[in-house]
Amino acid sequence: MTGKPFDRRRFLEGTAAAAAGLALPGLALAQGAKIKVGLMLPYTGTFAPLGVAIENGFRLALQEAGGKFGGREVEFFKVDDESEPAKATDNINRLVNRDKVDVVLGTVHSGVAAAMIRVTRESGTLHIIPNAGVGVATGALCAPNIIRTSFSNWQNGYGMGLALAQRKNVRNVVTITWRYAAGEEMLKGFKDGFGKGAGTIAKELWLPFPNVEFQPLLTEIAAAKPDAVFAFFAGGGAAKFLRDYAQAGLKDKIPLTGTGFLTDGVLEAVGGAAQGVETTLHYADDLNTKRDREFRLAYAKAYKMQPDVYAVQGYDSGLLLGAGLKAVNGDASRKKEIVAAMEKITVDSPRGKWHLSRAHNPVQDIYLRKVSGTDNKVSGVAVKGLDDDPAAMAACKLG
Ligand code: BEZ
Repeated sequence: MTGKPFDRRRFLEGTAAAAAGLALPGLALAQGAKIKVGLMLPYTGTFAPLGVAIENGFRLALQEAGGKFGGREVEFFKVDDESEPAKATDNINRLVNRDKVDVVLGTVHSGVAAAMIRVTRESGTLHIIPNAGVGVATGALCAPNIIRTSFSNWQNGYGMGLALAQRKNVRNVVTITWRYAAGEEMLKGFKDGFGKGAGTIAKELWLPFPNVEFQPLLTEIAAAKPDAVFAFFAGGGAAKFLRDYAQAGLKDKIPLTGTGFLTDGVLEAVGGAAQGVETTLHYADDLNTKRDREFRLAYAKAYKMQPDVYAVQGYDSGLLLGAGLKAVNGDASRKKEIVAAMEKITVDSPRGKWHLSRAHNPVQDIYLRKVSGTDNKVSGVAVKGLDDDPAAMAACKLG
């Protein structure tokens, strides 16, 4: 994947002009203008619940900060990106060029995020990615103004691969996922981890996103009789997959594993179909730290439901943006200083403490979890303080 070179001049010009006392942002500040935050998230389609959880988490962080970031109120501009890459360029242009937002928060789908960063790299708009794990965002297309608060697709796939590589009874695995950047990159991570053991991938099964016609592929899994299955699906698609896997009689015969997106946010909806499913993720439901307990209570109080990993990512995006804006007293034009402040912070997150890598991807613990009741319960730490795919890190020229 290639992209236009990052336009450093445009990124810095707001900062330079403000320093020279020439810029409008100073005037806007004096008049108490609001920080303009563009939310480009899915509010329809299979990832709609993920978009809602991210927005909820972000708003909770804002509420806990007294309704202001850096002393300024926030005005939201919302776009439903529908998880549709073909509409992504128009959608992001609306926020950046029509609404002229100070910050973009988006998105969930890797293909949509890849299109977004081509625009935000060029405009220099501060861009926080609260989910999409697409490798190029913090790899070949990394940029000073692009910050990810979630994960890279590779990280969670790698954790599960490594966990299975250590099991002597898992020698051959069938993989199943949607064929787009997230599925492909999680599978790469899985192979990199699983490859450290003696096992092999017996078969790779694929569906186009967001297709949920799983039946023929489940028949192939039954026939292949692997020691385990590794899967990536999320949102409505994940719930359907878990139900179909159980209904096909595979749940108690072939252990199902995956990245934690398979079971996060869907356990109430699938009843018992996900019991025992093992996944890896940078969050779990029973971390049982003071920080997480407080967050879960506050989230449940505000939204009358339990948070999931997407809510945590939205919340952490708010924490990070709040810290960045505090460092510049709410002057959103001082982007270089905002980013410098973000780069220095250790985020005290419900998931555990994490910090940004040189390429602006979270360096974080990856938990091994197992579904029990309606919880993804921690059974161990698959990888401590994991950075990104070495190949992606090498491709990022930041820092
Ligand atoms: C992605 O497209 O990057 C993605 C979507 C949902 C969950 C995890 C990753």
